[in-house]
Order: sequence, then structure tokens, then C-alpha cells
Amino acid sequence: MTASPPSDQVRAGQAIYLPWTLPLYDRVAFQVNCRLFFRVPVPEVVALFDRNVSAQHLDVGVGTGYFLDHCRTAPQQAITLADLNEHSLRHAARRLARFDVTTVQANALEPLPLPEASFGSASMNFLLHCVPGSIRQKAVVLDNVAACVRPGGRIFGATVLTQGVPVGAAARVAFPLLNRRGVMQNAEDSLEDLRTELAARFPEHTLTVHGCTALFEAEVP
Ligand SMILES: C[S@@+](CC[C@H](N)C(=O)[O-])C[C@H]1O[C@@H](n2cnc3c(N)ncnc32)[C@H](O)[C@@H]1O
Repeated sequence: MTASPPSDQVRAGQAIYLPWTLPLYDRVAFQVNCRLFFRVPVPEVVALFDRNVSAQHLDVGVGTGYFLDHCRTAPQQAITLADLNEHSLRHAARRLARFDVTTVQANALEPLPLPEASFGSASMNFLLHCVPGSIRQKAVVLDNVAACVRPGGRIFGATVLTQGVPVGAAARVAFPLLNRRGVMQNAEDSLEDLRTELAARFPEHTLTVHGCTALFEAEVP
């Protein structure tokens, strides 16, 4: 099956990741955005990876590969990186070159061109707030990623919400601008919808909130 070409809105969610912006990403994302706007402690996200990453891991929406570089990786670690953006893939693969890395260019809103039920774990960190639609619509990403994970395996990630969570003053200024540009696409994203979509798929799941960021982790049934 050939994937349909991504829409302009989907492209907008990954357009900012370029060879000259990626070297700045860690500083902007983790020292500015996480502290000032998302108000999530970065060590909480590292701990999320530590709890869930397995020896055969799939990361979807890779950015710079920061969390896989900093988390407690398994011995003989195999990592598959999937992203729509070729620059993110190249940057993260270079950073994680000490592992057994495979890259796949793919839109997470479409079924991923990977074997079904073949990974022990999969992350989609800070991805959902970059893709268009409400949480109900973008929850198809959960299905596409979970399809690649073995039953009993782990699926996890974080996403920034705007409804049903405390959004600070700085974020209330920044988020509309970022949403207008399509860098973030979370104007309708609510905690209630995320809880509903997780519960509909994963009987065993945990959802925690830090600032306006939701961290989720689940067992694939
Ligand atoms: C905010 S970065 C998150 C990077 C990393 N996971 C982290 O936690 O720092 C979002 C990543 O998702 C990718 N992305 C955006 N939309 C996507 C889509 N529809 N399908 C696959 N990847 C996408 C971007 O290219 C970028 O690498």
C-alpha cells in the first residue's frame, strides 16, 4: 500500500526541523520550552523512557534523538527511527550511531511501513502536538504505532495540551503563534480526549500531567 502525500498541515508540523535548526533544538526545546511553556521537568521524560524502552525500540517523531541518547538503553540496543522529516532522521541517526539504528521516512498519521508486532516498545514523544486535528482525530497515530509493537510491549510518550490542563501565561501568548505557523497543532487538544482515546485502546495505561504536558505509557494488548 502506498501512503498518500502529506497535506500542507501535516508538512507544517515537521517543516521547522532543518539542518541549521536541529543543532539548536535541544537548547530551545529542553531549556526554554519545557521550562517556560510546557512546565514539564525534562528528567520526568527521561524517566518515562527509562521505564519503558526495550531492547527492540521504535521511536516515532525523532527530533534530535535526545531522549534515546540520555535514557537507560538496553544492552544490544536496536533502535528504529521513523519520521516524516529526512533531516531529523539523519541528525538522530548520527547521534545514536553507537546503537544498531534503522531509519524509515514515514507519516505517523498513516500506517507505518514496518512489520507488525515486531518491537518490544515504541515512543512518540512530543509528536502528537505537532500533527493536525483534535486528539480524537490524531489518535490514529496511537493505532499506527501500537500496530508495530508486540502484545505485552510498551507504548509511551508526552504531548503538550491546551484544554483541561493549566496553561501558564507565557504559553498562552506563545501557543497561538506557534499554532498559526503549524509548528504546534494542539489548539483543540484536551486531557479528557487523550484519556478517552488511551482508555479505548489500552486497558493498562497511565496518564500523568506536569504543567500543560501529558505523559502517557501503556501496555499494548
Ligand atoms: C517536537 S519534535 C519531537 C522530537 C523528539 N521526539 C523529542 O521528544 O524531543 C517532533 C518530531 O516529529 C516529527 N514529525 C512531525 N510530524 C510528523 C508526522 N506527521 N509523522 C512523523 N513525524 C512527524 C518532526 O519531524 C520532529 O522530528
